[in-house]
Amino acid sequence: MPSPTVQVAPSVLSADFARMADEIGRIEGTADWVHLDVMDGHFVPNLTFGLTMVSAVLKATSLPVDCHLMIEDPDRWAIGYAEAGAASVTFHAEAVGAPLRLARAIRDAGARAGLGLNPATPVDGYADLLDAFDLVLVMTVEPGFGGQGFIDAMLAKVRRTRELVGERAIAVQVDGGVDEDTVGRCAEAGADLVVAGSAVFSAGDPADAVRRLRETASAAAGTAWWAS
Ligand code: DX5
Ligand code: ZN
Repeated sequence: MPSPTVQVAPSVLSADFARMADEIGRIEGTADWVHLDVMDGHFVPNLTFGLTMVSAVLKATSLPVDCHLMIEDPDRWAIGYAEAGAASVTFHAEAVGAPLRLARAIRDAGARAGLGLNPATPVDGYADLLDAFDLVLVMTVEPGFGGQGFIDAMLAKVRRTRELVGERAIAVQVDGGVDEDTVGRCAEAGADLVVAGSAVFSAGDPADAVRRLRETASAAAGTAWWAS
């Protein structure tokens, strides 16, 4: 396998919500995706935005939109995000009733299907389901807020996820506490798609922060166990 380029998906959670289109414009042309954290105040103790905002962002950017649904009852709500034009829709294992049916519906609507795992949720129970997904999101903080510290103990799950994925075209995404200090460890363990919120939007130059994260991560992935 050639050395992978690790992709970077900035999360707008740390952006200025009153200037959303301008904020996304700062990473347009540099970021690989834009990551939108949909929180319902029930699955997580925070409330952000829903389909109305995601639809507005879809009109305002040419970046592929990566929706991370931290909501209850994704079986009911997730399909709307795929139908609206999101490139990728991730729902949580802890919230979904019928993961295979929902993943199939998301794909049928033209989006990539993602499976999100909270820190306390092992990946092994989902090993037989992975073919239904295009990405597995390993949370490296408890979901709900940006700017939290990276949980190092999650690196073992990143590694295990990469082992289970093997040669398949399923992205291993890491989300939470990713910055210049932690992104290399994520990539070394097996991440090929990293989400970064505060490390990008709290930086003076968000585009430069994205480039640096991608360079650091790709260098680490290039010498990692899983890329050889
Ligand atoms: C947390 C969200 C993350 C968050 C990441 O629940 O899923 O996407 O925005 O923010 P940082 O990078 O600041 O931890
Ligand atoms: Zn997220």
